[in-house]
Amino acid sequence: MPEPTSIPEHEQEREHERDGRAVWDTDALPEGDEKVRAVREMFDTIAPRYDMVNRIMTLRLDVRWRRRAVRDLRLPSGSRVLDLASGTGDLCVDLTRAGHRPISIDLSFGMLAADRSGAPLVQADILRLPVPDGAVDGVTCGFALRNLVELPAFFDELGRVVRSGGRIALLDVGVPRNRVVRWGNGIYFGKVVPRIGGWLSDPAAYRYLPKSVAYLPEPPEMLGLLRSAGFVDVEHRPLSGGITQLLTGTRG
Ligand SMILES: C[S@@+](CC[C@H](N)C(=O)[O-])C[C@H]1O[C@@H](n2cnc3c(N)ncnc32)[C@H](O)[C@@H]1O
Repeated sequence: MPEPTSIPEHEQEREHERDGRAVWDTDALPEGDEKVRAVREMFDTIAPRYDMVNRIMTLRLDVRWRRRAVRDLRLPSGSRVLDLASGTGDLCVDLTRAGHRPISIDLSFGMLAADRSGAPLVQADILRLPVPDGAVDGVTCGFALRNLVELPAFFDELGRVVRSGGRIALLDVGVPRNRVVRWGNGIYFGKVVPRIGGWLSDPAAYRYLPKSVAYLPEPPEMLGLLRSAGFVDVEHRPLSGGITQLLTGTRG
């Protein structure tokens, strides 16, 4: 049997570069399969410093947002919860602390390799979950909706795997309603975050972040999509003045 071969280093470099630039280093965001590949390779690249940059960029508010998401799941202790696009496993840590049994699922091997939550790790595309119908009590997902190619397909997949009466809590960045807060947030995400991210990690990845917000539909549209996917009691809550948003719902 032939030995498994690894890609030579110079070839690996070519895999995520085009014309000497990272595939996510572009003004026009990639679409379709190219977006999936760009997102995976981008997170592989920033994984080693992801947690540190996150804490600095959000002044540790991200810790509070994740705890709020776990609380708003309102599931009994011992529940089986999938944390989708789990990254380095921060939500899995909070889920375990709350007495749940999380499973960490992400596309990026680099992010999973940095996961210290102790939860079982699965490398998969969350648009096609390797999970039977109605098999889980709940789902959390932190700051990944805007990276997905097809949000309606993702919500349908949640409707498929969550049991009747199960709960979901989905976090992502938001657009504040207040004009002054929105202006300040725009400056912060558009100018300051790319600088901090550039100094501490990968400049192109942290230039992508403010652009990726454009992919999220307005809250009423997302709530409508969740209802169409079979969820009831769907709610949208702006957190910290709306710079982050939390979507929750119960599987009907
Ligand atoms: C901004 S990070 C968030 C990580 C973590 N949930 C958190 O709260 O810090 C986004 C994560 O989504 C993952 N991701 C993006 N698209 C994905 C997909 N289609 N399937 C699985 N994971 C995906 C990335 O690999 C990355 O780890």
